[in-house]
Amino acid sequence: MARMLLHRAAPRSPARRRLLQGVSGACALALVRPSRSGESAPAEPVCGNGSRVQTLYQPGTSGYLGRIEAGSGALVLRAGPTGALPAGIEHGRLAFASERNGATFVNPTLVVRRGELLRVTLDNALDAATSVHWHGLTVDTANDGAGMPLVEPGRRYEYAFEVRNRGALYWYHPHPHGLTAGQVHDGLYGLLDVEDDDTIALRRELDLVPGGSELVLVLRDSAQRYERTPAQAIHGVYGDALFVNGTRCAQTDVATRLYRLRVVNACNARTLLLGLRTASGAAVPFDVIGNDGGLLPAAVRTRAAFLGTAERLDLLVDLRDAAIGDAIVLETRAFDPMHAEIAVPKDDPDAAHAHQATEAVADAHAAHGVSSWPEGAPRDILQLRVRTRVGYDRRVPARLSTPEAIDVANAQERPLRLGYKSGHWRINDRVFAMDETPIEVTRDSTEVWLLRNYFTSMPHAMHLHGFSFEVLERETSPDQVKALAIDARSRLPSDLGRKDTVLVWPGESVRVALRFALPFAGPQTYPFHCHNLEHEDGGMMLGVRVA
Ligand code: C2O
Ligand code: CU
Ligand code: CU
Repeated sequence: MARMLLHRAAPRSPARRRLLQGVSGACALALVRPSRSGESAPAEPVCGNGSRVQTLYQPGTSGYLGRIEAGSGALVLRAGPTGALPAGIEHGRLAFASERNGATFVNPTLVVRRGELLRVTLDNALDAATSVHWHGLTVDTANDGAGMPLVEPGRRYEYAFEVRNRGALYWYHPHPHGLTAGQVHDGLYGLLDVEDDDTIALRRELDLVPGGSELVLVLRDSAQRYERTPAQAIHGVYGDALFVNGTRCAQTDVATRLYRLRVVNACNARTLLLGLRTASGAAVPFDVIGNDGGLLPAAVRTRAAFLGTAERLDLLVDLRDAAIGDAIVLETRAFDPMHAEIAVPKDDPDAAHAHQATEAVADAHAAHGVSSWPEGAPRDILQLRVRTRVGYDRRVPARLSTPEAIDVANAQERPLRLGYKSGHWRINDRVFAMDETPIEVTRDSTEVWLLRNYFTSMPHAMHLHGFSFEVLERETSPDQVKALAIDARSRLPSDLGRKDTVLVWPGESVRVALRFALPFAGPQTYPFHCHNLEHEDGGMMLGVRVA
């Protein structure tokens, strides 16, 4: 086997590592300038390529990402060119516009109580077909937004369904096969904040206020127009800059109390390794309290957490012991992106293609500046500047939620292999076809899906529509993943509770339990796919029929 590395300089070489860490250190120096005294604000620091540090944008009751009580009446989401944005916000050329009681919204955050009805009309003002998929929600096929029916330019489609899922931060985005990556990349996405008794209790217990002590952080790595070279179709499209809610070099003032950070990885392809550090570079541990599927049973202390595309993480940061003038930085740390794992046998006719891809990746990185922020290279996400001393004596509740356990005693195990062949990433060697459902599931059955990623592969963020799952165990995880495991089954803190997307690393096997209780009459179909959106568009997706 000739091992062909698609990236010429994989970041696993020690020299590259040092370089990456050097970048991190320089950035830290430029960005974090603590003033213990706190009597005079330090000169405005700069970050990245000399950009000014900007105040983190938080969704309000209108405007960009604004929160709409969506359960209280029908809404129209108009997909079209991005309208007016607040100063300093960088967003792609497309957005969902909406209106409620005279207020206008761009990519609104839909706030609903579990059990409420959501009625949303998609108005397609794009020049291409589109749809809205409610990522993480249990809806029937007609409301799922995947594949059929697509909404043609100039047409409307009405989604109407009951929100049946646990309280959690979900999101919505288009899902027209082959066009998904471009439309999401160009700016079509929004949040869906589902509240239930547990999330409401948490806010009350910890005195959390959205936009104040509870911060939503939508992470994106581009605000450019979408382009996809053949090499990028293999690896994914990676942006040069990091935007938090459209803010570059974000910082925000905080007080000495607990903060809740609700993080969404809305990048097309980029995995992140979240961590916190002080100005002097010391790691600050934090509590994971929730993920894609809502609150965990209990908080879990950790020092870092991977976040794949489409995954969400709910964190608590304890700033009670911080001094006025301290700066705590939320960052993505250096890790091995494991992109260089694609091996092609010498006698494989695809070897020539793979070799071309090698050249193309190198060229793409040079031409589009992709290599200015390779995946796995560290970067600061958000600086929390401690400005105010407050008294705060709330305690994190011992029990946050009680997710129903899935009984797998009689479950059938279904193997699903993730790999690359003949120009496509595949599941069980297959590429997506709209009218095929290679995965046939019996209604009300319980299954264990064994997601096996080949050693010669890339990380894949696997997502199933319509059902959440329980991560049972990880096997043969790479060291950088194993190092964060918290139990005998090698699970990560973020694996606990329920999830709808799980990152599977090269060489790794992940077992997940699924209960196919279907609250809808008649057979339903849903896709199971990789949420690296370039992989998804390339066909790393299979139809699942539940009947
Ligand atoms: Cu967010 Cu089919 O995906
Ligand atoms: Cu989804
Ligand atoms: Cu993938």
